Amino acid sequence: MKILIIHGPNLNLLGKREPEVYGTRTLEDLEVLLTDHAEDRGVALDFFQSNHEGEIIDRIQSAGDESDSLQQADAIVINPAAYTHTSLAIADAIKGTGVPAIEVHISNIHARGHMRARSRIAPVCAGQISGFGFDSYKLGIDAAISVLKT
Ligand code: DQA
Repeated sequence: MKILIIHGPNLNLLGKREPEVYGTRTLEDLEVLLTDHAEDRGVALDFFQSNHEGEIIDRIQSAGDESDSLQQADAIVINPAAYTHTSLAIADAIKGTGVPAIEVHISNIHARGHMRARSRIAPVCAGQISGFGFDSYKLGIDAAISVLKT
């Protein structure tokens, strides 16, 4: 089983970006944590971070390409970051590929004002996990495994 983890814009700045909201650990710290978590469950992870909407869409599409075993994934755990609140194009890509996706957020987007409370992506995902720090991603991986097993 392979799960693709997608990090959207500015998540490459974890550790220095608004530490009071996102903590002081880096993206690399997060990926080490997730790799251990996935290994315990016998699951392979692939990581992708981009600050560009089109690149995220291309990666989602390639995850759904069964002829490309390197890029293909059984499920996607995605933190679309600020694109959460704006991107119909990312939502269309998830819906169009049909790869099951879980939306995750480090902060609780429902407690940060009405602009952030709205997600364009959640309606095309199996579900959304928000507000548990880096653990949101771990819960997202477990949710993806559960979705794939049912
Ligand atoms: C975020 C929440 C978004 O509103 C914000 O734009 C981000 C990070 C989170 O993980 O809490 O960049 O997705």
